[in-house]
Parts: sequence; structure tokens; C-alpha cells
Amino acid sequence: MSRLDSFIRRLQAQRDVLNWAMGVIGDKTGLVLEIGLGNGRTYDHLRSGLGAERIYAFDRANNANPRSYPPADRLILGEFAQTLPAFAAAHPGGAVLAHSDAGLGDPEANARQMIMLADVLPLLLAPGGILFSDQKMSHPALLPQPMPVPIPPERYFMYIRA
Ligand SMILES: C[S@@+](CC[C@H](N)C(=O)[O-])C[C@H]1O[C@@H](n2cnc3c(N)ncnc32)[C@H](O)[C@@H]1O
Repeated sequence: MSRLDSFIRRLQAQRDVLNWAMGVIGDKTGLVLEIGLGNGRTYDHLRSGLGAERIYAFDRANNANPRSYPPADRLILGEFAQTLPAFAAAHPGGAVLAHSDAGLGDPEANARQMIMLADVLPLLLAPGGILFSDQKMSHPALLPQPMPVPIPPERYFMYIRA
């Protein structure tokens, strides 16, 4: 598969899982977390379906397309290892959906990042809250789920907060 094909598949998978998630949580009260704002593409997709009010975006810097800037009070800048625990302390179990697009190229750094995220995400998610992640995570409070939409295997991972 060419890199272009792979990129297209990744974006299609993101759109399909986010569309599914928005359909499920649309009428539920609770926050939505975009972990890894990046260019702002997936943030913008969530915002188009859910509105900006309930979505908090996290990144170490704002490198988003200006059309995808979150409101200043919904953008949390800094290292995840600091910002996510602080946010969890302020909004314990407040999120009904988290989308984590935070994979790193270096396998060892990626593994460390996923351990850190898997530790903090159960503090952020409400019981029954949904996590979609571009990387596999492992934590007793994150229950792996079968993918609810047909996407290529291991492209995305879904968990429910126990
Ligand atoms: C793949 S990009 C996200 C792309 C985004 N979902 C989109 O659609 O445009 C991942 C982002 O996570 C951020 N990131 C990765 N590790 C981080 C960390 N430990 N703390 C803060 N930000 C981090 C990077 O700066 C990068 O912008």
C-alpha cells in the first residue's frame, strides 16, 4: 500500500469512528476531549457535530489551522503528563468521549506515552465513557471493545471506561 493510500485510510477511519461516536454521545451530557489537536482536522470534525462548547483540546503547542482554533478557554497547552492530570483533578470523570491521536514515531517513546495516557484517561472519563485511540492502550479500567464501524484492523482502538 502506498503512503497516500495509508494516509487516506487513516483519515477515513478517523472520520468513521468519530461519526459513530458523535451519534452515540450527541444527546448525553459531558465533556469531549481531543487529545492531540495537531492540525485541528479531527477537532474540527467533532466541533462540526457537537459544537465547540463541550470540547477541550490538548496539545503542547497550537499548530492548528486557524480555521480549527478552539476557543482560548477550551485549548489546554502543555505536556499531556502535566495538563491531563490537572484537568482530571478539575473535572473528575467529566468526559463522555475522548479521542486520542497522540501516537509517536519512536516505539519506546510511544510505549511510554501510552502508559501515561492509559493511567490518566480513566480519571478523565465518566463510567461508560468512550475512548477512541490511534494506539493500543492497556489499563484495567479501559475495557477493549470491538470496532463498531468497519475499518482496517488495528487502525483504531475503542475502549469503554469501566
Ligand atoms: C497526530 S497529531 C494530531 C492530529 C490531529 N488529530 C488532527 O486531526 O489534525 C498529534 C499531536 O499530539 C501532540 N502531542 C504528542 N505528544 C504530546 C505530549 N506528550 N504532550 C502534548 N502534546 C503532545 C503533538 O504536538 C501533535 O500536535
